[in-house]
Parts: sequence; structure tokens; C-alpha cells
Amino acid sequence: MTRLSVIGTGYLGVTHAACMASLGHQVIALDVDPEKIASLNDGVVPFHEPELQELLSSALASGNLEFTTDWAVVAAQADVHFLCVGTPKSKDSDAADMSQVNGAIASLAPHLTKPALIAGKSTVPVGTAARLAEYLQANSPAGAEIHLAWNPEFLREGFAVQDTLHPDRIVIGITNPEDEKALREVYDASIQEGTPFITTDYATAELVKVAANSFLATKISFINAFADLCDAAGADITQLADAIGHDTRIGRRFLNAGVGFGGGCLPKDIKALHARATELGLGEQFEFLANVGRVNQMRRELVVERAKSFTGGDLTGVRIAVLGAAFKPDSDDIRDSPALSIAQALVDAGADVVVHDPIALNVVRRVHPHLNCVDSLTDAVSGATLLIHLTEWNEYRELDPAALNSVVAGRTIIDGRNMLDRDKWINAGWAINYLGKPGS
Ligand code: UDX
Repeated sequence: MTRLSVIGTGYLGVTHAACMASLGHQVIALDVDPEKIASLNDGVVPFHEPELQELLSSALASGNLEFTTDWAVVAAQADVHFLCVGTPKSKDSDAADMSQVNGAIASLAPHLTKPALIAGKSTVPVGTAARLAEYLQANSPAGAEIHLAWNPEFLREGFAVQDTLHPDRIVIGITNPEDEKALREVYDASIQEGTPFITTDYATAELVKVAANSFLATKISFINAFADLCDAAGADITQLADAIGHDTRIGRRFLNAGVGFGGGCLPKDIKALHARATELGLGEQFEFLANVGRVNQMRRELVVERAKSFTGGDLTGVRIAVLGAAFKPDSDDIRDSPALSIAQALVDAGADVVVHDPIALNVVRRVHPHLNCVDSLTDAVSGATLLIHLTEWNEYRELDPAALNSVVAGRTIIDGRNMLDRDKWINAGWAINYLGKPGS
């Protein structure tokens, strides 16, 4: 058992805190937002994530987990501090906004009166860990006894608990060999399962995270560029992805063409990496990431153009049901969601848009109060001339199109995720359109 703290209770922090407590560690988690802390102490997870609610409740009940806003308590109670605050895109540039990271370290440092290890999990520009290590030693009462490790997080939303408890790999960037021992103790359960444990320097650990995310983003834009080529040439992107995916050097995962990537990580991480590489004089080598982002943006524009092509070029007053709002299924995260960006563009083009999502509508109503959200799927598609499928929830995959025939005004669907069964929709009398493969 290790005494841990988790600083920052966003997606990463809440999941990490609950998972570490479930493994038997004593965890105290801190956030600067007192309302959030009060609701977490009441056992309420502020977002949708499978398994997390149960895990949080049992961790609180076991006494292994508590939440606080008090830095002094955190510094006194824990020996290893996981830094899990956000690094969103800056308002005025593509670089990461480091104010939460810098603020957390500045708040913690004066309370560090005994030896401690700070383990950074946030996604940061390379060079940050070295800077923070120096700052901590210079500004903490315990001075040189404060150590820093960089321990990037790779969890996916929708699988956050499983990814934390059973990660593909654990990466730690350290400068003091004894810090490896402390982190091996924290992650002992995963290590016992055979999870690769990779020890590096700071810069490598920082770069592993952004390299992984930019590779994944590149894979998606690569297949989406080919989807356009398939459309132009009359080929089928799903068959193409299946065929190249059999090459184990390429692999089939992350080759699903469609409306592209969104969320709180991939879009901002490729921008921040490009910005950091440019600062280091490598802008030209990383220029491809700007193109990855551009190809991704073009997916959204493509869907709006498709919609127009089905309505004689003019969307004014056309009722369109948008199926999905979250950036991916099993999540209520709508940050940079392709679905919502398309819904908004359709509204801007004059369409009468109805948005449906099985889980995310409460968040949509809060953030985009002007969008017309409808909870019942049948009500959402009622009277619609066009359906656009944008988040691949199972509920949409399992839809019976024949059952919709009596309520819709038109039987055309654009499948922005290339997931719906062509024969099922055609047999029910629908026209189905995909991004990169023949429809009807
Ligand atoms: C990502 C990384 O996967 C994770 O390791 C990191 O820690 C955080 O960023 P996440 O943002 O949860 O995780 O989503 P992910 O599953 O990677 O999907 C990102 C986006 O890509 C989604 O919008 C998804 O719909 C899209 N996507 C994914 C595709 O368009 N095609 C695919 O084949 C796969």
C-alpha cells in the first residue's frame, strides 16, 4: 500500500484516484473547485464513464479514497503525488495552456516539507518535466528530497477504468533510479499481470505520449484521405482497410473511416506537438500534423456538402435528425465532437436540426442551449427528411429502419461512421450513403 495523492479531478484524475484506491492504495484527491470536491465526496462522478461510478462508490465506502481542496493536507498525507490536471489548447495559439500544471506545482511546492515523489501524468510539451523538477527543488522546503517522475497516461474515454487497471504499457521518465521502485510498488498489480514497464529519461516519457496520439490521429486522417479517393474512384474504404489491416505491420485498428477524430486529446495534442516542434526548429518535419488536422476538418465539411446534395443544394428549413452528439460512443464528452460541429454547421446553413444522443444530451443542452435536443429517438427522427449518423452508439447500429418508415418524411440516411448495415437499410426502402464506399 502506498499513500498517494491525485491532483486534478477531471477525467484522468477521478479515474486514476478511484482505480488506485480499488487496488488498495490510500488515496487523497485534490481539486481547486470546491463544488466538484463536494459532489465527489458524495460519490457522484461528474461525467459518463462505464464502471467508474461503482468503483468510486466502493472506494469511498472502503475508506481508501477521499477528496479535498486543501494542499497542506495532501502534502502531509501522501508520499507520491500524481499530477493529473488538464493542458487544454491555449486561447491565442496552438500551444498547450500550462496554467493548470504550473498553478498546481506552485500551490503544492511550499507544503512539501518531507521527501516526496511527484509523478506527472498530464500531457505536456517536451521539456516541461525538467523545468518542473528544478522548480520543485528550488521552491519546496524539502528541497533536493523532492523528486519528479514523468508517467504519461494513455487511457481512452469509454474504457478509462480498464485502461487504468490493465494498461498496454507503463512508461516512467526518471532521473533517480530509486524512484522506479516507488512507482513499481504503485503499479505492482499491473506489473504482476505482465504489463511492460518502460523506464526512460524525462523527455522520452513526455514524447511517448504525444507520439502515440499523433500516430493515431495520422492513421485516422490517412484512412479518411483514402476514403475520399475511394469515393472518387468508385472503391470501398472498408474493404481497403480490412485488406491493408491484415498486414501486421499496419494493423486494422484505428482505420475506421468516417467523420474523423474529436475529443479532448487528439485534436489539441497534434496542434501542441506541432507548436512545440516548431519552437525546437522542426516545424517543417512536423508540418504533416497540420495536414492531419486539415483532413480531419474536411470530413465535417464533407458531410454538410453531402446533406446539401440530397436537398437540391439548399438546406433552408430542411428537417435533419443528427444521430449522436458525443465524440465517440460510451462517453458523454462533446469536446470537439465531429457530430456537434456538423450539427452546428447544418443549423448555420438554415436546416431545422434535431440532435439525439443516448447519453450526452444533458451536456449538449448545457453547452449549446440553442440546439434542439430530443431524448426519444423516435421523436427525433419524426418528420425528418434526412438522417445523419455521426456517433456509433450500438442503439443506432441496431436500429430497425422499417420501424422508422411511418414517422420519417424522407428515407435517406448518411452514415458518417460507415457502420450501418447496407442491406438492412436498402431492404427497408432507404437510400444509404457512406463516406468512402458505395451506398445505394
Ligand atoms: C485518445 C487516445 O486513444 C488515448 O490513448 C489518449 O490517452 C487520449 O486520447 P480518446 O480521446 O478517449 O483517447 O479517444 P479515441 O478512442 O482515441 O478516439 C479518438 C477519436 O478518433 C474519436 O472521435 C473516434 O471516433 C475517432 N476514431 C477512432 C475514428 O474516427 N476512427 C477510428 O478508426 C478510431
